[in-house]
Amino acid sequence: MDKMTKAQQIKQLLILKSLGYKYYNPNLLSLTQDTMILPQNMDNLKKQTLQCHLCQLSKTRTNVVFGEGNLSAKIMFVGEGPGENEDKLARPFVGKSGELLTAMIENVLGLKRENIYIANIVKCRPPNNREPSQEEATTCLPFLKKQIEIIKPKIIVTLGSVALKYLTTNELKISKVRGSIIKQDNLTIIPTYHPSYLLRNPSAKKEAFEDLKSIKKMYDEI
Ligand code: URA
Repeated sequence: MDKMTKAQQIKQLLILKSLGYKYYNPNLLSLTQDTMILPQNMDNLKKQTLQCHLCQLSKTRTNVVFGEGNLSAKIMFVGEGPGENEDKLARPFVGKSGELLTAMIENVLGLKRENIYIANIVKCRPPNNREPSQEEATTCLPFLKKQIEIIKPKIIVTLGSVALKYLTTNELKISKVRGSIIKQDNLTIIPTYHPSYLLRNPSAKKEAFEDLKSIKKMYDEI
């Protein structure tokens, strides 16, 4: 390319930049959510996820928290994103909120944790446990969607407002829709409160208990 053409191209790029366009690495573009071709096999999907550097959370994570549980689970729980303990141990829900979640699963649903599948909207810990940004969540979502596609759970329980926001489309309010059945993209989603919220607001445990009872009723019928 001669100097003149190069200067003209740089000028055009600067004009685009001033109009708000951003540079994207074309190799990454082919990995965005619409076109991402992900493995259909959970082990291969996990391998690919462990190497992901598609968002800035990859820079500060200790481990990718892929998710865990039974690949034939009829029920899947989806949280927001790993916290400090999860980031250290590479396992979802292993801290204080994990203890509560496990108790909810075992004591109210009457299931073993190993019989269900647990994952998060984002697989890397947001620094200081902040909420994942829209960009981080939508970049990571295809991995979760593929996990759902592989497991084919009959019920997905979203824990808290972030999981609800990214797995449903209509900007639903958790306090309004908790415990109800949302049908979306051939999925059956039942939202309830996040265990961390319940730890901070114990009075909401009563409502979460009601939600879990309806989830159990539905589970027993499938
Ligand atoms: N909170 C979440 O949303 N997910 C975890 O894995 C742990 C805490």
